[in-house]
Amino acid sequence: MTNESASVSAAWPRADFARVPYEVFTSDQIYARENERIFRGPVWNYLCHEIELPRPGDYVTNWVGEAHVIAARDRDGSIHAFENSCAHRGARLVSAVRGTLEQFTCPYHLWSYSLAGELTGVTFLRGVAGKGGMPGDFDKKDHGLTRLRVARYGGLVFGSYSEDAPPIADYLGAHACEQIQRLLVQRKPQVLGYLRQRIPGNWKLYNENVRDPYHGSLLHQFQVSFGLQQPTMRGGIKLDADLKNTWNHSIVTEQDRASQKVVADAYAGTGKFNPDLQMADPALTRVPLDLGDNIKTTILSLFPTLVVAQVDNTYAIRHLRPKGPGLVELHITYLGFESDTPEQTHDKLLTVNFIGPAGYISLEDGEALRLVQEGIKHRQPGGHEVLEMGGVGPIQDTDYLSQEISIRGFWSFYHRVMQLPPIATGGGAP
Ligand code: FES
Ligand SMILES: [Fe+2]
Repeated sequence: MTNESASVSAAWPRADFARVPYEVFTSDQIYARENERIFRGPVWNYLCHEIELPRPGDYVTNWVGEAHVIAARDRDGSIHAFENSCAHRGARLVSAVRGTLEQFTCPYHLWSYSLAGELTGVTFLRGVAGKGGMPGDFDKKDHGLTRLRVARYGGLVFGSYSEDAPPIADYLGAHACEQIQRLLVQRKPQVLGYLRQRIPGNWKLYNENVRDPYHGSLLHQFQVSFGLQQPTMRGGIKLDADLKNTWNHSIVTEQDRASQKVVADAYAGTGKFNPDLQMADPALTRVPLDLGDNIKTTILSLFPTLVVAQVDNTYAIRHLRPKGPGLVELHITYLGFESDTPEQTHDKLLTVNFIGPAGYISLEDGEALRLVQEGIKHRQPGGHEVLEMGGVGPIQDTDYLSQEISIRGFWSFYHRVMQLPPIATGGGAP
């Protein structure tokens, strides 16, 4: 074992991942390894939703770790993904976030590519006036763009650099597939709008944030004040077989109102809970759930950088773009449905105000990430998080929300896919 491996190993003292070394959020070496082992490894990375590519030639750009990638619709309806970097001398091919093109032409020396990323044209291939040009054995077939495998599920489009990424439904897991059907397939979605947020924190802190449903009833003043998310709510978490993906959900019941006393006791001394507070205009909180199943929140957290979420009546795809150990961009695609009435669309636009950088119930999330990133900056090596809420030892589904077990699930898969040295002792194995 090298010195580096030994210290990385020592930093993970528990096999149940109830301790996570802070270095994973700050180290440049770890960030570089993530780009190699995770984003270019056996995972499926979110690229776009099919509805963003309705016609042949439509494309969107996205990031897979540090790699800038184009997803494009071909004439036969298939979707291809390739790097936004010319096979000649590497120039970026397109600068727009999205657009429609017959083919991709590099601005530098005008090499052109098909919608599948094949090299189709080289200007001056045979030289000019009989002089110069490429060697006779230059074969365009050998110089296509760097392609990714593509998989689609329920309208979501994913790309992978690795032949070892499993079939997409297996990768997502049964709970995620079921929820994607519920949220994105049974009604045809349409894009209501986009939003980007820059957060000065590590991308994995966001993964932790969305896997921890109980912070909602503690951090988010709006949710606490107006009883939108309470620790007494019914719900729980369910994991996939790899423990990397979490479905967490909360359910509205008649019990919620009756639980006010339990809630008041739980918040005793925190100064956060004030049941007498009233909103001047409560329209936002009165939008009825439109799926008719009383599920109030559904957060699908999908390794490594995708979240599909329903928060009340706000439907959104959230995607993370890591930009170094201490910075991440959150890209949000807000969704409505083609079957929505004008009133329902109005309501959805109203409840968009819940989620986003200034969202009533999410504005504190970016700040929480910043505070952690700031707080751990000067910690001594060996410092680590404590993840014991909800129990330690086995990583398993729960029928309660006050838990960090699904965060431990994320880390167990992370540890495996990063190929970090095995953890020798301590803590229950997951
Ligand atoms: S770098 Fe693209 S054509 Fe030269
Ligand atoms: Fe939150």
